[in-house]
Amino acid sequence: MNMYDLITKKKRGDTLACDELSYMINGYVADEIPDYQMSAMLMAIYFRGMTAEETTDLTKIMAASGGRIDLSSIPGKKIDKHSTGGVGDKTTLIVSPIVAACGCYAPKMSGRGLGHTGGTVDKLESIPGFRTDLTQEEFLSVLRACRTSLIAQAGTLARADKLLYALRDVTATVDSIPLIASSIMSKKLACGADAVLLDVKVGRGAFMKTAEEARTLAALMVDIGRGAGLPAAALLTNMDAPLGNAVGNSLEVAEAMEVLRGEGPADLREVSLSLAAGMLHLAGCGTRAECRARAEGAVADGSAFETFVRMAAAQGGDTAVLYDPRKFPQAKRQCVLTARETGYIARLDAETVGRAAVLLGAGRATKNAAIDHAAGICLDKKYGERVAAGDALAVLYADSEAQAAAAAARLEEAYAIEPAAPPPQRLIYGTMDAEGWHDR
Ligand code: URA
Repeated sequence: MNMYDLITKKKRGDTLACDELSYMINGYVADEIPDYQMSAMLMAIYFRGMTAEETTDLTKIMAASGGRIDLSSIPGKKIDKHSTGGVGDKTTLIVSPIVAACGCYAPKMSGRGLGHTGGTVDKLESIPGFRTDLTQEEFLSVLRACRTSLIAQAGTLARADKLLYALRDVTATVDSIPLIASSIMSKKLACGADAVLLDVKVGRGAFMKTAEEARTLAALMVDIGRGAGLPAAALLTNMDAPLGNAVGNSLEVAEAMEVLRGEGPADLREVSLSLAAGMLHLAGCGTRAECRARAEGAVADGSAFETFVRMAAAQGGDTAVLYDPRKFPQAKRQCVLTARETGYIARLDAETVGRAAVLLGAGRATKNAAIDHAAGICLDKKYGERVAAGDALAVLYADSEAQAAAAAARLEEAYAIEPAAPPPQRLIYGTMDAEGWHDR
């Protein structure tokens, strides 16, 4: 077997057998297959695609290419969650403690921000002292005590994905449905949970720009889960505009705490409760309606907020900021972006908002750049709202005047103000699970 023949096979649109995929992945991880050949293969996959069976084989081989987490010593159902990435998406901080407060376990390994999208690990690290680099023993100990623990993904887990993702990033092969599905599901398999709920984002700020593409990705991931022994379901949620009002790390933690206290923006509350209910349903905690009621109950009685506080304390975090966000380190500068005209907000482009947040230092412009945890944007007005000329659209938080000015110019491009009210945006498109598609 050699890589040249495998590239030729895929280039012609043939299916790669399991032993061929294994040769390719294990050879690449062992540094025996060079980047240029793997790049050619990725591009061939990008154009020719993969069958569902081929993608499942690829996923299992990738999952086995590094360490795995053993959660078998934790009693009860362990339910994982994954978002395909968005702007202002702080749902993990809300959903994990809700699920834990309802009696299930919510272990979660998260990533850092990527491009214009934020990452849960960066958000958590804005809580002074919060450790995301727990050892496996520490992770299990927090999980036993709090039923949830949120940590950074170990580099050794699904090693092939780490290497392939970096290569895809520089060879314009990220947005391939089989490559995204195998990347996500290989990590989920290696994390050792009993089931996973996927939040597949759809829209301007997401990898999947249309509901149709997102549905295809969701169906493939659910299918891979079935083939690999990891029950999975997927919620399709809107990412045309940012989720919630806050974009930027400590601002997002503060907003997540508002939702856990029963307040916060309606869109964020709705998506979070739907995801939590979906996870409880996967864990076998009742019908969808019963699970929704339990999730709402855990917010209303304060147990979800208390769970987050206990978990943060167990991971070294200063919990004072969770009760009072004014105790977070604050940005030096604030700048208000105002509306130039009167009308309705007919576009609020999530990707452009995310790029403006990166200019403020809330995300990384280069791979190893430092994050400014206090930087970010609070949106005062969102899609569909009426504004008058001079009204505040958003407040930008920055370390310097120059950063604030550059980001404000970019943020302004995210908005379109029109004389007529735009059509309502769909927040949740539906759910894909082992039984098929459900409109809610
Ligand atoms: N998220 C992942 O983990 N992998 C992808 O390929 C895309 C989004």
